[in-house]
Amino acid sequence: MKSELSSTDAIKRWDKYAELISSSYGETGDIHREIFLNPTLFRLMGSVENKKVLDAGCGEGYLSRMIAKAGASVTGVDYSQNMIQLATSKSPEDLKITFRHGNCEELSFLQNKSFDLIVSNMVLHDLSDYEMAIHEMNRLLVDGGTFIFSILHPCFVTPGSGWVKSDTGEKLYWKVDNYFFEGTYNQNFPIDQEEKFLFFHRTLSSYVNTIVRAGFHIEEMIEPKPSAEMIEKYPSFEEDFRCSDFLVFKLRK
Ligand SMILES: C[S@@+](CC[C@H](N)C(=O)[O-])C[C@H]1O[C@@H](n2cnc3c(N)ncnc32)[C@H](O)[C@@H]1O
Repeated sequence: MKSELSSTDAIKRWDKYAELISSSYGETGDIHREIFLNPTLFRLMGSVENKKVLDAGCGEGYLSRMIAKAGASVTGVDYSQNMIQLATSKSPEDLKITFRHGNCEELSFLQNKSFDLIVSNMVLHDLSDYEMAIHEMNRLLVDGGTFIFSILHPCFVTPGSGWVKSDTGEKLYWKVDNYFFEGTYNQNFPIDQEEKFLFFHRTLSSYVNTIVRAGFHIEEMIEPKPSAEMIEKYPSFEEDFRCSDFLVFKLRK
């Protein structure tokens, strides 16, 4: 179902803060990508050598670069012009990545069945018409192709969720609220700015039913956990890790 605010409203914030977000990224993205998302995405992708891959909502392009370095032919699409400019300027020419400006809800400039694999990392909760976007990914995949996407876990990251703390600032527990609300709300992340980012919340069953209606089979669902190696590197994540922040789907057309 379409939300009251559109992706065109939401994209203004991504465009405005593109440079700031990009400046917090290293070669493997930000800390959450390093700890939780990249290991999961790469395990689910398997070998990408010689595959045609679409990075849908590529942002500043770190994942496109990682996938291209692993031997794939990569196209990155983002609805923010500034993100596309950053992705282009940060990506060495020899990786031969094609970056295009476009809304994942409607990518008519890309042909039917032109990708073996589509990855969309933390994008579907940032756009308004996720049903159109998931159908669009199905159109772009070859028969038997794979669609992997990550989102904020809709059961735990909701409008009104957050830590409940003691008077001394100790984290007591993570509160979830308004789970059944479907629509737009403001978030303080990925960076806390005066103008908040617009997120689009939907329930888990809305996602799953849309996936199935679009013609996908669910092969795997992952709620990423930090590895022992990552906990050793970033010990605070052990203490804070009490429920899953992210949900990753691997789908087959
Ligand atoms: C959380 S960032 C993730 C970027 C990148 N995938 C990564 O992991 O760093 C969300 C990205 O989705 C893009 N985006 C939001 N709505 C979009 C839409 N309708 N179509 C394409 N990209 C969109 C934003 O511009 C932003 O770059």
